[in-house]
Amino acid sequence: IEMNVTDRTDTVHILRAPEGGTLMEVLQNADLVAGICGGAASCGTCHVYVEEDWLSVTGERTEDETYMLEALEEEVPVTHKSRLSCQIALTTALDGITLQIAPEA
Ligand code: FES
Repeated sequence: IEMNVTDRTDTVHILRAPEGGTLMEVLQNADLVAGICGGAASCGTCHVYVEEDWLSVTGERTEDETYMLEALEEEVPVTHKSRLSCQIALTTALDGITLQIAPEA
């Protein structure tokens, strides 16, 4: 699964990982997000903006994710493209996904 990721300094990274786990884990391994809560949707450090065309592939926000994004909204821009990458399962459907790491809250 190949991912095109723009980091907080606007550098583009091409990341590759096998299916399984979450998108956050891949970003964390690449040192692009902290993932402090370990994927519990409670720290907000894995916030990303998913490119428009890929939004439907990533599915719906979870309830906990929605609450966390609402909390983040006070500190960083939260848009319809905002997702917590720990709530996105890494499946082959994501091959080619393009996303951007959100600013640090
Ligand atoms: Fe903490 Fe996703 S890793 S909210």
